[in-house]
Amino acid sequence: MAYNLLKGKKGIIFGALNDQSIAWKVAEKAYEEGAEIVLSNAPIALRMGTIRELAEKVHAEVIQADATNLEDLENLIERTMEILGGKVDFILHSIGMSPNVRKGIDYDALNYDYYHKTLDVSAFSLHKVLSTARKMDAIKDWGSVVALSYVAAQRTFAGYNDMADAKAILESIARSFGYMYGREKHIRINTVSQSPTPTTAGSGVSGFDKLEDFSDRMSPLGNATADDCAGYCITLFSDLTRKVTMQNLFHDGGFSSMGMSYRAIEQYEKSFKECPE
Ligand SMILES: NC(=O)c1ccc[n+]([C@@H]2O[C@H](COP(=O)([O-])OP(=O)(O)OC[C@H]3O[C@@H](n4cnc5c(N)ncnc54)[C@H](O)[C@@H]3O)[C@@H](O)[C@H]2O)c1
Repeated sequence: MAYNLLKGKKGIIFGALNDQSIAWKVAEKAYEEGAEIVLSNAPIALRMGTIRELAEKVHAEVIQADATNLEDLENLIERTMEILGGKVDFILHSIGMSPNVRKGIDYDALNYDYYHKTLDVSAFSLHKVLSTARKMDAIKDWGSVVALSYVAAQRTFAGYNDMADAKAILESIARSFGYMYGREKHIRINTVSQSPTPTTAGSGVSGFDKLEDFSDRMSPLGNATADDCAGYCITLFSDLTRKVTMQNLFHDGGFSSMGMSYRAIEQYEKSFKECPE
């Protein structure tokens, strides 16, 4: 059911790779809610993924941009303002990638070139998007920017590796820029800390299926899906959340407030019985 929450609004959505991507679901919902959007992703994702299908469905143009490259970002923003006929109301940053995770390199032995790449793609890119948008005065007053994060920014999760550091920086960038952009233009910037979600990036984390199961058992409401996440992002782009900024907002079925649940104890007891003393 649509509520016209984004009627007349325009936005840029980064990070739709395929129909599992969180950004894909956000794009579909933004369109349903009346927004006009431009989709962007890295050149390789345009070749490997299925973003063109999404573009057709939501009547959007696709503009390629490596979100770590300032020239690409300038071009994207310039073309977006031409296509949409002016400044945007919202931006979704749904970008993450760690070569260390991809190559199975453990945290104590990180490859530092890869580590830099992880931080550049997954965190500094938010700074670059915001800085470019600000320089080009591309976001309307009272606009809204959302980036996706994970609770590993606050707590240690085995296997999440250098992405935990990237998410901690990402959340900090949202606060620091949120202060500047909020004072100047009332633009709000938040991160949404999402449950484990079976996407290309999510499934790359070592032991993802166990993490997803554990998280679901620990959460009173169960894991939030990509669709649920899209709904939450839409509210943050809407005028109903105009005074929410510089927050890391947990969207995780309650996981981040739990210590232990009966469902997790039950599962733990099973394996405990099987273990010799
Ligand atoms: N899946 C999960 O469990 C989960 C949980 C919490 C947060 N998140 C975050 O959600 C966001 C979206 O991930 P997803 O789960 O939808 O997976 P996904 O793999 O569908 O999306 C990740 C996107 O990042 C893009 N990307 C990578 N390098 C880029 C670059 N240089 N320039 C531009 N784009 C680039 C990819 O092309 C891809 O579209 C990420 O920030 C991820 O960390 C995911």
